[in-house]
Amino acid sequence: MSSFQSAPQAYDRFRSFLENACGILLGDNKEYLVKSRLKGLMAEHQFADLNRLVDQLESRGGVALREQVVDAMTTNETLWFRDLHPFRILEEKIFPELEAEVRSRPLNIWSAACSTGQEPYSISMIAEEYRKKNLGKLSRGVSLTATDISPSVLAKAKQGSYEMLALGRGMSKERLDLYFTADESGSWQIKPEISKAVDFKSLNLLQNFTGLAGQFDLVFCRNVLIYFSQELKHDILKRIHGKLRPGGYLFLGASESMTGMNEYFEMVQCHPGIIYKAK
Ligand SMILES: C[S@@+](CC[C@H](N)C(=O)[O-])C[C@H]1O[C@@H](n2cnc3c(N)ncnc32)[C@H](O)[C@@H]1O
Repeated sequence: MSSFQSAPQAYDRFRSFLENACGILLGDNKEYLVKSRLKGLMAEHQFADLNRLVDQLESRGGVALREQVVDAMTTNETLWFRDLHPFRILEEKIFPELEAEVRSRPLNIWSAACSTGQEPYSISMIAEEYRKKNLGKLSRGVSLTATDISPSVLAKAKQGSYEMLALGRGMSKERLDLYFTADESGSWQIKPEISKAVDFKSLNLLQNFTGLAGQFDLVFCRNVLIYFSQELKHDILKRIHGKLRPGGYLFLGASESMTGMNEYFEMVQCHPGIIYKAK
C-alpha cells in the first residue's frame, strides 16, 4: 500500500509509542508486521502515512485510537490446556498441597494476559474435575481473575462463545460435551458452572495492580512477557511477586524463563515443567 510507506523516523516514533503504551518491543525488522496489522485501521481513519497516525496517537484526543492500535498490535494466540503440564501440575501437586490453606475459602488465581479466555476457562475446568474426583476437596472451588489489555479479546472471553476452529485447538470431545452447549449459529457456549468462577477485567501490566483486590495463591502469566524488554519483564515480575502470597506459585509459558529474580522466587522443577514459588 503506497500510502503506508513510512520514513525510518516514523517507524521509530511508532515503536516508542507502542512500547510506552503496552510494553511490546518491536525489532528493527518488524515494519512489515506493523503494516499488515494496521492496514485496516489506517484505511478506516484515512491516515496518509505512519507519521500522521503517530501525530494523532500523541495528541490529547487520541485515547480511543490508542486503544485500537494496541488492540491491533497485540498477539492474541492461545489454546485450550496450552502446554498440558501446567494443568497436570495443578491436579497432581498444587491442589493437594494447598488443600489445608483453602479449606474455608476459594483458591485465588490470576490469569494475567488471558486473551480470549481459554487459559482461565481451562483452569476452571481442571478445578471442577479435581473436585468431582476428590469429593470434599477444594470445597470452596476456585476464584479466577482474568485480565488483558486488549478490549476485543476481553469481550470475546466474557461472551464465552467459541467456534469449532478455536475449540479444535486443545478441547477434547469429552470436555466439549460436558462443558459447552451448541447454539443455533454453530458456535459453542461455555456453561455457567465453568464461567461463573471467572471474573474478566481490563488491565495493562505496565500499570499498577491496585485494581486487583487481595493476594493470589497462583498467578498464570504466560506468553506475554516474551514481547517485553528484560528491564520491563523484571519490573512486572517484581510487582507480580507483590500480588502473590508467600508460598504461592507463578506459572510462565513453556518457552519462558526467569533470571536474576532469586530474591523473589524459588524455581521448582516438576518433571515436566517449571513453576516459581514466591519467597
Ligand atoms: C499470546 S497471548 C497469551 C494468552 C495466554 N496467556 C496463553 O498463554 O495462551 C498474549 C496476550 O497478552 C496480552 N497483552 C499484551 N500486552 C499486554 C499488556 N501490557 N498488559 C496486559 N496484557 C497484555 C495480549 O492482548 C494477548 O491477549
